[in-house]
Amino acid sequence: MRFVSMQGTSEPNNVLADLPVVLETSSAPLVRALKSTAEQDVACFHFPGHNRGKATPILYNLTGPGAFLHDLPDLPELHDLFSPKGAILDGQAEAAKLFGASETWFLVGGTTCGIQASIMATCCPVDALILPRNDHISATSGLVWSGAVPKYILPEYNSCWDIAAGIRPSQVEAAIKELEEVGKTAAAVLITSPTYHGLCSNLNEITKVCHSRCIPVIVDEAHGAHFRFHPNFPSTALEQGADLAVQSTHEVLSSLTQSSMLHVWEPYRYGENKKMPSKCCRAPAQATYYLHH
Ligand SMILES: Cc1ncc(COP(=O)(O)O)c(C=O)c1O
Repeated sequence: MRFVSMQGTSEPNNVLADLPVVLETSSAPLVRALKSTAEQDVACFHFPGHNRGKATPILYNLTGPGAFLHDLPDLPELHDLFSPKGAILDGQAEAAKLFGASETWFLVGGTTCGIQASIMATCCPVDALILPRNDHISATSGLVWSGAVPKYILPEYNSCWDIAAGIRPSQVEAAIKELEEVGKTAAAVLITSPTYHGLCSNLNEITKVCHSRCIPVIVDEAHGAHFRFHPNFPSTALEQGADLAVQSTHEVLSSLTQSSMLHVWEPYRYGENKKMPSKCCRAPAQATYYLHH
């Protein structure tokens, strides 16, 4: 995967003109595998049932052939998202390098499935998970699935903007101490940063507070997938010490709806936490949708 400078481009209204770098996709392993597989002149005896668009003339006419020719399942050439090899594994490794992660998983069930997987990877039944009261509904379903018990932090209300603020490090510390007072240790802390309204929390300080007690930090970074790509954006969650960060590639970058990424920094830092791959693979749909990545 290579970076290409877009600075100084003279194209008017080019939204990429101010970005220092964009990816040159021709080196993307999954794109290359998808292209060569779509170009094969073969009869298809596999799903999806639209049979490269032939079975759905109305949609085919709407979008043209491209989407249908490349909407391919987990053929041997394309491998399997549930046990990544070849193009998927290479693509995930390149994404990890790009986003500064130790490991990255492509998700086809949105950030929703990444949040659920992260909670299930860090929390066992009855464990305490510290999280903001205005968490996304995916965190609530992650609590249900994992059996973890929420320890909520109430975000402050910003009356100027009429929205909820981020979470302060002192609020996280207070929540950890309240649990300690009743003989419990938080299994993980989940922070939404940026929030839906764009407010970021001080993750640098929050991760210091948590790591001093060996508590992993999950960041719902659904709306911050672009932070890595311009110095004027805030630092990413991983750059600020987060252990797991989930980003909606489809919401703020340029992939198709529902594609997200789960980034992990040193997954084995906490010894016991060796559960991520299988948990993560269970959350997306059975079928792999390669166009999403
Ligand atoms: C803060 C936050 N987290 C998670 C999500 C879920 O993202 P996705 O649609 O990729 O599952 C959203 C969706 O808007 C969100 O606003």
